[in-house]
This record gives sequence, structure tokens and C-alpha cells, in this order.
Amino acid sequence: MHDYQKNIETLNLDAWSDGQMRSKLWLCDLIEKDFQNKKEPLDIWIMGSWYGLLAQFLLIRGRLPLKRFRLFDMDPEAIRISQKMLNHWLIKSDIEIHHHLQDCTQIPERDWSTPPNILINTSTEHFENEKWMNFPSGIYFYAQSTNMEHPTHINKPTSLDDFKKRLGPITRMTYADKMEFRYPNFEFDRYMIAGIR
Ligand SMILES: C[S@@+](CC[C@H](N)C(=O)[O-])C[C@H]1O[C@@H](n2cnc3c(N)ncnc32)[C@H](O)[C@@H]1O
Repeated sequence: MHDYQKNIETLNLDAWSDGQMRSKLWLCDLIEKDFQNKKEPLDIWIMGSWYGLLAQFLLIRGRLPLKRFRLFDMDPEAIRISQKMLNHWLIKSDIEIHHHLQDCTQIPERDWSTPPNILINTSTEHFENEKWMNFPSGIYFYAQSTNMEHPTHINKPTSLDDFKKRLGPITRMTYADKMEFRYPNFEFDRYMIAGIR
């Protein structure tokens, strides 16, 4: 199958699926509540950013003051599509959008010299390990994972508590909950933990 066709199918069947959409809206609602009184524009970093749909959502909703997005993914094809999908915001607004082809478990020390206001990883079930959590303490983060059975879910917690344990020590946890997805032929839970590392 042509790459283009394969990507369109992944977008339609997976990225824009009910589970992905509702998980991201859940996250948008929480971030917008947590940062509703923030006046200064935010610098948001997204790890495992895939096709950039979370950034797209936050931009479309327009409920937060935004200065910059840094999107990190180790898949060049995902980065390429994300750049295309987000391109129009570079014309429509003065918000900076930077893409980085990067393994987030190996972000060099020097890159944290200007840390973000918010760090997000909703792709943790795809990450080999939790080394992406080795960022400087004091940064506000949001993490999601799932117990969904899938061949690409190589790091799959079995419960919210298990997810908490996997993330390791956190200075202050501000949110921890799960969302249940129930369909006629399958079901899974999605977990979200937020706090200050
Ligand atoms: C299938 S997608 C995302 C699904 C997820 N539920 C979401 O938030 O949309 C997972 C992404 O994580 C990326 N990824 C996995 N391990 C990574 C790592 N160590 N560093 C950067 N990106 C990673 C993959 O390349 C892929 O684009």
C-alpha cells in the first residue's frame, strides 16, 4: 500500500477514533482548567506527538494563551504529517510551532535549559520505558496511558495505580483518574496523571 494511503487510514481509523478524541478532549479540559488564570503565554512541549492532533485541538479551542509548541517524535513520517497538518497555524497566528525528530527517552541535558511551562505525553503506552520522566523537577506535566490490548502497546499499565508506580516519584500530584471506554466488541480504560515533577 502507498505510504500516503497508509497514513490516511491510520488517521481515520486510529488518530481520529472516538477513544483518541475523547482522551484528548479530557486532557484539554483539564489543562484549560488548571491554567485558566494564567496570563502569560505558555510554552508547551508534547512528547510522542504523533500527527500533532493534541496541539491542533488546543489551538482550535483557543482557550489558553499560547506562545510556543515543541513537538517531539522519533518517527520521521509522523513529524512530516504533523508539520503539514499544523502548517496553517504558522500563517494564521504568531504562535511558534517547532517539530523535533527526537527519542524522548534521550533528550540531552542542555535542552532543558529553557524548560516548558507544560510537558505532555499521551503516548506512554508506546514508549519503551519511563526515562522520558527524567526531566527537571518543578515542571508541570500531564501523562496518559491505557490498558488497551494492542501489539504496539509495549508499556501497558494494568490499573491507574500501576501507571502511578511506573511514572516514579513526583513532587505533587494534582490529578489522577481513569476514563472508561466501552464498545460493543471491545473495552479499555485510559489513565491520566498530572502534577509537578
Ligand atoms: C501511536 S502514537 C500516539 C497514540 C496516543 N494514544 C496519542 O496520544 O495519540 C505513539 C507515538 O509515540 C511515538 N514514540 C514512541 N516512543 C517514542 C520515544 N521514545 N520518543 C519519541 N516518540 C516516541 C511514536 O513514534 C508515535 O508517533
